[in-house]
Order: sequence, then structure tokens, then C-alpha cells
Amino acid sequence: MLMTHLTSCRATPSTTSRIIPLLILSVLLNSAAACSNGNCQLLESCSAATDCASGLYCGNCAAESRNQPFCIRGQALIPTTIVPGKPFNKYSWLVTHNAFSNVNAPPLPGVQRLTFYNQEDTVANQLRNGVRGLMLDMYDFENSIWLCHSFRGQCYNITAFNPAIDTLKDVEAFLTENPSEIVTIIIEDYVHTPNGLTKLFADAGLAKYWFPVSKMPKKGEDWPTVSQMVQDNHRLLVFTSDSSKEQSEGVAYQWRYMLENEPGDPGVVKDKCPNRKQSKPLNSRSSSMFLQNYFPTIPAEAQACKENSAPLAEMVATCYKAAGNVMPTFIAVNYYMRSDGGGVFDTLDRMNGHTLCGCSTIAACQEAAPYGSCKNITSPASPGIATPTTPATAMGTFSGTVQEISGSPPAYHFSKRTALILAQLSLIVCVLNSIRN
Ligand SMILES: *[C@@H]1O[C@H](CO)[C@@H](O)[C@H](O)[C@H]1NC(C)=O
Ligand SMILES: *[C@@H]1O[C@H](CO)[C@@H](O)[C@H](O)[C@H]1NC(C)=O
Repeated sequence: MLMTHLTSCRATPSTTSRIIPLLILSVLLNSAAACSNGNCQLLESCSAATDCASGLYCGNCAAESRNQPFCIRGQALIPTTIVPGKPFNKYSWLVTHNAFSNVNAPPLPGVQRLTFYNQEDTVANQLRNGVRGLMLDMYDFENSIWLCHSFRGQCYNITAFNPAIDTLKDVEAFLTENPSEIVTIIIEDYVHTPNGLTKLFADAGLAKYWFPVSKMPKKGEDWPTVSQMVQDNHRLLVFTSDSSKEQSEGVAYQWRYMLENEPGDPGVVKDKCPNRKQSKPLNSRSSSMFLQNYFPTIPAEAQACKENSAPLAEMVATCYKAAGNVMPTFIAVNYYMRSDGGGVFDTLDRMNGHTLCGCSTIAACQEAAPYGSCKNITSPASPGIATPTTPATAMGTFSGTVQEISGSPPAYHFSKRTALILAQLSLIVCVLNSIRN
């Protein structure tokens, strides 16, 4: 602000007398802030979105009584760039729960959307930040297939987000621009149109990246290596919750290939990691992929920074044990960028470090070094938080969508009526969940 003012001032004699005190003030302010202009490291105080170093954003965590903005990690390390060539299921990947349910997505014209939100940026941006799995709820709607955050298997104009093809085209663009990346889509499938999914993925240009069901391991064997998948261009894994689609359309039935813990509230209870009803027990060795859900049933944006910090790391350890010392292949969260520092990104680095090279974080792994031979990395900024690491690849730049410079999460202004309907909706969701479980 100050600098803008200065540069927009013309240095006439009358203004110089005002500029000098301003300059002094500016020097004072700069020396008061320890860092600025992209130099602020993890956990350092910041005052503008541009203050924090690459891969970090300037945010806050009021739920942990932090009232000064600080630099928070917002970008993942892509494990394959550090330890390449392992079977796909050996890596741990970041998944966004309801990836499309973006607080900032415009509602349908003339409609006030009435649903819960789980994320704060677009799927295209999520992919740039290192998200590699997308949970998408697909419905028949408006003679097409839409992404909706709805209930009773029916999409309404108040719960609709966008035609699924728009989001899938963003996935196609990402896979085309990044020829060694692999993306997984997990569909909560309410589509009943015959061959609806087949046509949708073909229209989005994604058929060319499709990993065929016939090549998926059926008896708990490892998946092909990431290098093999890249070589074959089988870089899109798609799973559906509708068991009939595997036979009818060749879309893999999720729980034939994946173990999964309970989503929603049962998945965030300390020291417990029960399996989802549709899934085999987590310690079953009949599937080599394990999806860990870690998000409350009702997403709470303001609480997410706390949830995605120490409790998340603890729950990963709990689920790892429940799975018989198998690391989750996927970890699915709400508001993936929110944390009190390293968040889900640090947790993933630890998971990948542990599995791939026996080190405390993937940043300490060394290519082609024996298991357990780790690099010395510079000391963590604070106990329990790994060193901030710049992504090894130029995986796009962080857009800084999550900014809480004011110190509190963005507020949503609901009318009284909306608040009432939302309360009723949450009640319906709770009841429906308790019926389903
Ligand atoms: C939304 O759907 C309702 C119920 O079908 C309908 O009455 C209403 O006109 C729709 N609103 C818009 C703006 O399309
Ligand atoms: C790593 O750091 C430890 C402790 O500071 C030191 O003893 C060790 O020699 C270092 N290893 C390497 C490979 O630099």
C-alpha cells in the first residue's frame, strides 16, 4: 500500500516534504517485518499474499488461537520426482473430498446455492498444487451429467455446481500438459443414463488416458509402476461407487480395488480407523490400495486448519496400524490447503518418506540410495513440522486462493431463511448418514 502510494506520487517539491517521512516510515515498517516479498519461510509472519516463499501462502488459523497471519504450506511435493519408478500403490497421494464443491464457484444464474462446501479453489488449481485424486459426485441433471453436492441421489438447481465435462476437460488439459503425472478420479455415482460415463469421459478427451479395468490387479498384487503407467499413457484411474458399471461400461468398481475407512465423522475419531461397510477389512491383503478418508461429515472451514494438522498426522498413524502397517495410497481431506503450518502436505511427505526410502520425510530420500539412507535436511522451523521444501518440479505456481489476512476465515453471509434451511439440510444429511451406516 505504502509503496503504491509512493510510486504514484509525483516528486514535486511540495510532495518531497511528504515523501521523506513516508520513506522513513516505510524503512521502519520493513525492518519491523522480518521478511517480505517472497522471502518469508514456513510459519514466519506475513502481511501480504506475496510475502511467503514459493509453495506457501499467507494465511491464519484462528481455531488454534493464532491471530497473526503466517506462511502456511499450500503445495505438495510430487513423490515420483524424488523416488521414481515404484508401483503406483506404494506412493501416498493427496485427494480432495468433493473436489468440485468450491466455495468460490458461482451458483446457477438466479439460484442461491444451498449446500456444503469442501474446498476453496478450482480443480485446475488443485492439480497445480499437487492434488492427484479427485472425489466427484456425479448426477443426471439437465439432460447431462453434473457435479452436484446433493442428497437422495438427485441433483437440484440449488445443489448443482457445473457440468462434469467442464471439470474433466481441466483434468484432460492437466494430463496433456504434464505427461508424467497420474490422476485418480473417485466417483460417487448417481448417473443412470446408459453409457453416460463412457460418453462423458470420451467427450472430455480422456479416453486416451484411461487405465483399463482388465489391467487392474484383482488379488491384492501391486499396481504397475508409475513409469509403466506413464509409458503406456494409462494415466487416469477412474473408480465408481456403482458396482454395475464395471460390467456395463468398464468403469472399475471402487471397492473391488480399494480398501477404505469410514468417511465422515466415524473417520475422524481418535485412535479408531473402522473400515467402510463396502470395503474389505483394512488389514485384508486382497487389495493393495488403501483410501483414507479424513474429514468430518459437516465440513467446517474455520476448523479445517486445526483438523488438517496434528490430528491428521495422528489419524494416519492409527489407520496405518489398522491396515497392518500399510500406508494409505490416498488421503482425502476437506479444505486441503488449511493447516497450522505443514498440514496434509507435510503428512504426505512423511508417509512417502517412510514407505519409499525409510526416511522421516520424502525430502530426505535420495534417488537410487539404499533404503534407510537419508539426506541431512536443514533443521525444521519448529518441532513437528518438516522443513519447507520447494517442489522439485515446476508444477505450476500457487495461486494464493486461501488468504486470511484479516485474521479470520472468510465469512459467509446467510439470510435468516438460508440459515434455517441450512440447519434443516444438515439435519437431513445427519439423518441420511445414520440411515446409511
Ligand atoms: C430451480 O428449480 C426449481 C424447482 O425445480 C424451479 O421452480 C426454479 O424455477 C428453478 N430456478 C431457476 C432459477 O432455474
Ligand atoms: C547428518 O547430521 C548428523 C548430525 O548433525 C551428522 O552426525 C552426520 O554426519 C550428517 N550426515 C551427513 C551424510 O552429512
